[in-house]
Amino acid sequence: MGLETSDDAGVYQLTGEIALIQTADFFTPIVDDPFTFGQIAVANALSDVYAMGGRPLTALNLVAFPVETLSSSILREILRGGLSKMDEAEVALLGGHSVEDPEVKYGLAVTGVVHPSKIMTNANAKPGDRLVLTKPLGTGIIATALKGGIASEESVKKIVASMVTLNRNASEWMQVLGAHACTDITGFSFIGHALEMAINSGVGIVIQSKAVPIFSEALEYANMGLIPAGGHSNRQFFSCRVEGNTDALGPLSDLLYDPQTSGGLLISLSLGKAERLVEKLKKEENIDSYVVGEVTEGPLGKIQIL
Ligand code: CO
Ligand code: CO
Ligand code: CO
Repeated sequence: MGLETSDDAGVYQLTGEIALIQTADFFTPIVDDPFTFGQIAVANALSDVYAMGGRPLTALNLVAFPVETLSSSILREILRGGLSKMDEAEVALLGGHSVEDPEVKYGLAVTGVVHPSKIMTNANAKPGDRLVLTKPLGTGIIATALKGGIASEESVKKIVASMVTLNRNASEWMQVLGAHACTDITGFSFIGHALEMAINSGVGIVIQSKAVPIFSEALEYANMGLIPAGGHSNRQFFSCRVEGNTDALGPLSDLLYDPQTSGGLLISLSLGKAERLVEKLKKEENIDSYVVGEVTEGPLGKIQIL
């Protein structure tokens, strides 16, 4: 599996039992604390492997850092934060590469494995399935408010706790229960990634906007116009495939188009299994997840927002 299906990661079948999953992700800091930034970058980079139903095994650090102008202790903290998440995920750091750059960037190249018959793609959602989302939306808007110096401490704490959370447990439970399709919600927003699922699966998707979990402060900041550039381009790019009166949703529609960092998994599975997944994630992992919509026969490759 390569670029053509716009899935979360590339997959290369090595043997009858083992397929490699490979992915890379890095970005500029979205929080001030370097250790936390490292944690977020790693949780985000590993997420694409979890979205494919795989187990990440090894990683390489990808680093850009202005050695002339910033203290190397900051870089050490970023890497220490990253390593702490790799330890939690039982991923071995094998090395990496760094370049000098005026702007700090950090992330990982990750290699994982999956049984070839158990690869979870975004292309197998089935009509009648329910869609479960495992993290609230709004990290992009709150990060923008943080940059503007007006995000509340409370709201930043909330998005940090969410962004450093590995998608590992959610991924394991979706596999135990037998999900049909999955993707993780990142830069292309909830709507963008849901659309990829609809298009690649040849189905339609109905979203119950009231059921979508959000960080409440993000609504407030969206109302003040604190929309990241990516949110505007997501809307521009995807809205032609969205039906329903999103204007009537007000700032909630900005959250649906908000680019997420280390967002949750969007999982498609049959009705009964969706309810069990939400139950299991709460009971066994203390993860709040929500049934946010439904897969329909059509209109093909479109999203209806109710
Ligand atoms: Co992804
Ligand atoms: Co990615
Ligand atoms: Co090198």
